[in-house]
Amino acid sequence: MKIAVPLETAAGETRAALTPQIAGQLAGEGIEVLVQSGAGKASGNLDDAYREAGATIVPDAPALYGQADLVLRVGRPSDEEVEMLREGTVLIGTLGTLAKPELAQKLAARGVTAISMDAIPRITRAQSMDTLSSQATVGGYKAVLIAAERLPKFMPLLTTAAGTVRPAKGIVMGAGVAGLMAIGTARRLGAVVEATDVRPAVKEQVQSLGGTFLEVEMTDEEKAKAETAGGYATEMSDDYKRRQAELIAERVKDADFIITTALIPGRPAPKLVTDAMVRSMKPGSVIIDMAAEMGGNVEGTEPGKEVVKHGVRIIGLTNLPATMPGSATQMYAKNIQTLVKHLVRDGELTIDLDDEITRGATITHAGKVVHEPTAKALGIEPTEKDS
Ligand code: NAI
Repeated sequence: MKIAVPLETAAGETRAALTPQIAGQLAGEGIEVLVQSGAGKASGNLDDAYREAGATIVPDAPALYGQADLVLRVGRPSDEEVEMLREGTVLIGTLGTLAKPELAQKLAARGVTAISMDAIPRITRAQSMDTLSSQATVGGYKAVLIAAERLPKFMPLLTTAAGTVRPAKGIVMGAGVAGLMAIGTARRLGAVVEATDVRPAVKEQVQSLGGTFLEVEMTDEEKAKAETAGGYATEMSDDYKRRQAELIAERVKDADFIITTALIPGRPAPKLVTDAMVRSMKPGSVIIDMAAEMGGNVEGTEPGKEVVKHGVRIIGLTNLPATMPGSATQMYAKNIQTLVKHLVRDGELTIDLDDEITRGATITHAGKVVHEPTAKALGIEPTEKDS
């Protein structure tokens, strides 16, 4: 079996799907690992390191795709790259087909079996394959560092001969994987942190990191509805949103920085910070909107850009993990390796759609879109998994 790691071509992408170390471990299991020249350069992994680990360096994309049984990517392939994939190839990457369902149609038409890292079920058994978590961990950490760097003041409390400096106050909206990492990082830098989330279950996690939970009062019915069986948030009622907005409006006036991470799977990001709230903030305050790619949690966010509105800096970077490619690649590669091990049986790739993890993550197979939410997004009937 030949595994291929192409050079990522999306603008700003610096990560690679495998590190030399993981490439070497796969090669040690008798798998032939091909790496496109330069694929690891931006993450500090040079061709020689892959070569020394046992991989073969291939000069360009057509030569690589032309012989691959399994292609490992970080992001989506471009249209040109889809054309290079051979029929029957298995493609693994973060394909985001809910946001871009037409990619699934193209891959199905090409006869490619596409598996998306962002569709892997969030179950305990799949935790070590969970790139959403590993990359959100990197993003949450980096968001705080960017906020600290842009802020016109210290994060920690300082008592000095030149006077006392009050600590910066931050609010984290959405206390999932990224949010909790942001809270922990900001606390370590000495900031005072408040956090809010629709899932009441996170209150204790926020408090255990030294944050204060901003709690919107909820009815029992709302509490039951706020979290799906899979642990994700759901869209809340207009009345809840109004109460949440009142609470947030009260707190943002006092904040030096805000980090928003709130997402609802398959839906646009909820708008949590209005233009009026931004206007009420102190000049020089900083907002990092980690939901920028899904429309943003903040009115005024421009995806991929840093803008100043009412004296407040709103940062809508869409690929924070790519700003820290060393650790992001290391973690992504470990996740991918675990998935590959899951799929390989007796040295052969096996797409077992009766397996919960494989079924959940497979987007296209045997010429069809088999992933139900993606099929729905395309407005087509989901195809029987076993057809
Ligand atoms: P996410 O990226 O989908 O959303 C981020 C956060 O935003 C979530 O905490 C969500 O509740 C919150 N949110 C959504 N709408 C909001 C609103 N209107 N106001 C305030 N907050 C809002 O979530 P993430 O970080 O990917 O984690 C989702 C869930 O998955 C969590 O419950 C986590 O415990 C669970 N999980 C399970 C894993 C496993 O067992 N393998 C691994 C990782 C996460």
